[in-house]
Amino acid sequence: MSITRFPEDFLWGGALAANQAEGGYREGGKGLTTVDMIPHGPNRMAVKLGQEKRFSLRSDEYYPSHDAIDFYHRYKEDIALMAEMGFTVFRTSIAWSRIYPRGDEHEPNAEGIAFYRAVFEECKKYGIDPLVTLCHFDVPMHLVTEYGSWRSRQMVEFFTRYARTCFEQFDGLVKYWLTFNEINIMLHSPFSGAGLVFEEGEDKEQVKYQAAHHELVASALATRIAHEVNPRNQVGCMLAGGNFYPYSCKPEDVWMALQKERENLLFIDVQARGAYPSYAASLFRDKGIQIVKAPEDDDILKNTVDFVSFSYYASRCASADMNAGNTSAANVVKSLKNPHLAVSEWGWGIDPLGLRITMNTLYDRYQKPLFLVENGLGAVDKVNDAGEIEDDYRISYLREHIRAMGDAIGDGIPLMGYTSWGCIDLVAASTGEMSKRYGFVHVDRDDAGKGTLERRRKKSFWWYKKVIASNGEDLT
Ligand code: BG6
Repeated sequence: MSITRFPEDFLWGGALAANQAEGGYREGGKGLTTVDMIPHGPNRMAVKLGQEKRFSLRSDEYYPSHDAIDFYHRYKEDIALMAEMGFTVFRTSIAWSRIYPRGDEHEPNAEGIAFYRAVFEECKKYGIDPLVTLCHFDVPMHLVTEYGSWRSRQMVEFFTRYARTCFEQFDGLVKYWLTFNEINIMLHSPFSGAGLVFEEGEDKEQVKYQAAHHELVASALATRIAHEVNPRNQVGCMLAGGNFYPYSCKPEDVWMALQKERENLLFIDVQARGAYPSYAASLFRDKGIQIVKAPEDDDILKNTVDFVSFSYYASRCASADMNAGNTSAANVVKSLKNPHLAVSEWGWGIDPLGLRITMNTLYDRYQKPLFLVENGLGAVDKVNDAGEIEDDYRISYLREHIRAMGDAIGDGIPLMGYTSWGCIDLVAASTGEMSKRYGFVHVDRDDAGKGTLERRRKKSFWWYKKVIASNGEDLT
């Protein structure tokens, strides 16, 4: 049982992302984005990973992002539910293509700005601080087809124009910002992560790391602009977190775990410390990668973030042989199955202590405040005959992770807040399913897109309300 008290100003809330919640994919002048092209079903992975080029929609496929959970029209009802739980923070993202539908325009789309202003004003009405990601797995498709997305350095200009527009237009409404969601995921899921598709025989590693360099420059410039627009703005990087444990104490396994850790942390090392870490040179040499840099890049990268945000669902395992045959199904980051952990219905290891370990690692390394911006259990929920959803498994998962978070605070780590993932059920990013639910609020919609979209409070809704009201003291 944790004895740690959460700080008085600790931010409690939940997280959604535009691409998995809004829908309204062609409304309000919005342009098509990468996620709009990713179908549900057998072709999903090939498109997500950039192996299959998908530049137009097909009539024989279903695209879950197109309507998602219709947050676009229901945001007032959804934010009211968050307020009822006592949220003081709500993480969401802005769809870049609502603000700049093609991505390379000089003037923003007024309807897109009006939509987000209305969302953020609704939050303010209830005293909820928005925490806003500028790019959560959605690059405007025009930038993919015309420029090759983040392969092109021109993306830096397009992204910083978009970021400046957001900082200026939402000044006074938003002060917490994240640049790129789970920046390390572009290595594993390049199309959904960064709009990258590959040609036959191309050196994918070279393309991905060069694209990442452009994102890092864009992120550092956006951080500088945010501070120029309003010194009160706080900008964070965002990592798909979860430490790699060595599968055994065999030195070769420990060495591989260290390599995997570095691969994971490389980009946020740059964002948090202001320069490529020393190990980048050997990593690039071993992979045969040459990063093309502009002369000003090293100076630009010195604009470091104010805080380090991360998602945490599970820890990972590495051995000298990553193809040892016991690979875990957990997410898109390859890991070995940890025999000491129970797993979710989707095979993701459940490891609350791993959260404390991850937090200690991140704080030891960066000495910057942390923000846990995604965590939760994807599970199948059943509505019983009384119309209730008894999601005790979710409560139990969250309870143990909140305890671990409290323990890490007790270790001396400054944690700004906690936004559990998918606070209202939404479309799963990996599988495109609705049946993989994370929410405190159930949404009546199935994997084929059928359902009334009606919102229904689950048992965890009342539990989380109590947790927030007691500032994390009452986890029963
Ligand atoms: C993170 C993403 O990778 O994990 C979210 O930032 C995603 O967008 C979440 O939804 C959970 O993954 P999934 O595949 O269960 O939705």
